[in-house]
Amino acid sequence: MTEQERIVQLREELHRHNHLYYIDNNPQLSDQEFDALMRELQDLEAKHPELYDANSPSQRVGSDLSNEFQTVRHKRPMLSLANTYNEQEVREFYQRVSDGLGGEPFEICCELKFDGLSISLHYEHGELIRAVTRGDGVQGDDVTANVRTIRTIPLRLQPGGGWPQEFEIRGEVLMPWASFDRLNAEREEAGEQLFANPRNAASGTLKSKTTDKVAQRGLDAYLYFLLGDELPADGHYENLQVARQWGFQVSRDMIKAKSLDEVLAFIHRWDVARKQLPVATDGIVLKVNSLRQQRTLGMTAKSPRWAIAYKFQAEQASTRLREVTFQVGRTGAVTPVANMDAVLLSGTMVRRATLHNADVLEQLDLHIGDNVLVEKGGEIIPKIVGVDMDNLPLLRGPRVEFIKHCPECGAELVRYQGEAACYCPNEAGCPPQIKGKIEHFCSRRAMNIDSIGSETVEDFYSKGLIRNVADLYDLTLNRILDLGRGYKTRSAMNIIEGIERSKHVPFERVLFALGIRFVGETTAKLLASRFRNIDSLAAATTEQLLDTNGIGAVIAESVQAWFADLNNIFILDRLRSHGLQFALSEEAQALQSDRLAGQSIVISGVFTHHSRDEYKRIIEQHGGKNVGSISAKTSFILAGDNMGPAKLEKAQKLGVPILNEDDFLKRIE
Ligand code: IVH
Repeated sequence: MTEQERIVQLREELHRHNHLYYIDNNPQLSDQEFDALMRELQDLEAKHPELYDANSPSQRVGSDLSNEFQTVRHKRPMLSLANTYNEQEVREFYQRVSDGLGGEPFEICCELKFDGLSISLHYEHGELIRAVTRGDGVQGDDVTANVRTIRTIPLRLQPGGGWPQEFEIRGEVLMPWASFDRLNAEREEAGEQLFANPRNAASGTLKSKTTDKVAQRGLDAYLYFLLGDELPADGHYENLQVARQWGFQVSRDMIKAKSLDEVLAFIHRWDVARKQLPVATDGIVLKVNSLRQQRTLGMTAKSPRWAIAYKFQAEQASTRLREVTFQVGRTGAVTPVANMDAVLLSGTMVRRATLHNADVLEQLDLHIGDNVLVEKGGEIIPKIVGVDMDNLPLLRGPRVEFIKHCPECGAELVRYQGEAACYCPNEAGCPPQIKGKIEHFCSRRAMNIDSIGSETVEDFYSKGLIRNVADLYDLTLNRILDLGRGYKTRSAMNIIEGIERSKHVPFERVLFALGIRFVGETTAKLLASRFRNIDSLAAATTEQLLDTNGIGAVIAESVQAWFADLNNIFILDRLRSHGLQFALSEEAQALQSDRLAGQSIVISGVFTHHSRDEYKRIIEQHGGKNVGSISAKTSFILAGDNMGPAKLEKAQKLGVPILNEDDFLKRIE
């Protein structure tokens, strides 16, 4: 057997075992055996780049090449469903269908409503060719590369399945509870913001810029809608059963109901049973089963008349509101929090609920002592949805008002235009803001002073040892030991050593550590590489900032406001005198030049010497700007292999020069 033949054979084998494992739940190879075949395939594919196949099972593992999503128009618009919230509305739907069909008998396919994001998959000749998000229903993002990493989505359909040469299938991309819990645990560990629910997590993941991230996060998909010109049967239910044979994951939790009673029984059963499912669901979808009858019923402007969604009631409980407190975060944002009598909700004891912001509080019209309705919907944090009007105390307590002054420092709160949150503006004098900033400064991804955690910050702050990040560098062994018990020489030494080591942390991380609003890790890198030292950044004009890749008006304004604050300048000067890195290192500088200054460059295709992200960085290091699409203003295209034909044509039409990797590297040498 030639290597070429072996590649073909391995691909077929791996597709088959993938299906047995993920769809049939019937693995016939051990994980090790599967991995061994996969490795053999990857090795052979690396030797034979000419045999590249986007649908090879090896593509499931993803890569770190950056995706740019293209907007594509849906062949057929992706409609949504009308929602109903109670049995009466379901009865009315059933009656409307019956009337619309002139009394003819009909069946209703009852399905779970999966709570993820909808996806449209296109297959030609049994191969996945495109995956598009719903977007606005008319056009969506082409997320094919990311979708290829989802194990339950077949890249190639089961052979001999009798599928149409061309069809579309729609379904829901989901993050199972298990993956969601794992992801949030990791994010908590890394100090990153948690996803509120699996839907947000799935959506964020599917829009990731690199496929390896998607591959790691364990997304899943259920398909529920087959579209095309030559479908196997007139029944929606029957079509889905056939689609399962082709290799798609189709839920088994669906029935064809012949009466309204059967429909209602299905709803009642799953309202309870759904809690045992491994994925989130938020209702039931009811669809007239016959496609012919669906056509008879037709559509309204927004949704089909032949289908409806019944949304489950989120679990609710009533309990007494004791007090509302106000929390001040690191950014100064003030959040109202309700403290209530403990109540059991979806299996957990709930005592506190966020009230989000001033608007929400105003709208709820709460009084202390009221009984309030607490709900746990798709979100993990419970929320108050209203006052339990049927259980009001005879004499209502005082109305809860949003505070005017910071509960921590007394400063008058401000509300910026267009923002829901109220802020304490006293950045330099408000304790939780100061402590939060110092904690952030010391955190692993910033200055990495791991001997100082939140308890140490709290302790040093309350004893008056530190008031800002510059004070850290004035700490001495004796001053820490003088605090008395608790601090052993060893741990005090660790603290001093950690602070000392932080003086070598590179400029871009120092910039991140300063805690300038909206300047996260990535933005800090961009700014460091563009401006090279803190003085040029401080002097940057709005135009220069906006001209930097990835910097928009909000960040630009925030950076300028930070440098306009004399308190910050004072702290900066002190940090500088302690020897922190406020410029790119000589090595980093050596990699930089102005050779691409003022040039707009499009990157396209697959590269061999550097990854796409590295090329982006290289372009920035040499003063150029990486842009997404070709226009008359594009200076040149850095083209790898397999540059898209549409891009090629556009470049030729506009006369934009095309450079290959080697020419490009020579140009900046
Ligand atoms: S059918 C024209 N079936 O709910 C009918 N949708 O507002 C197309 N969904 O956008 C949808 N589970 O994202 C259908 N079993 C199911 C579903 C389902 C979840 C989502 C889908 C759609 C939304 C309806």
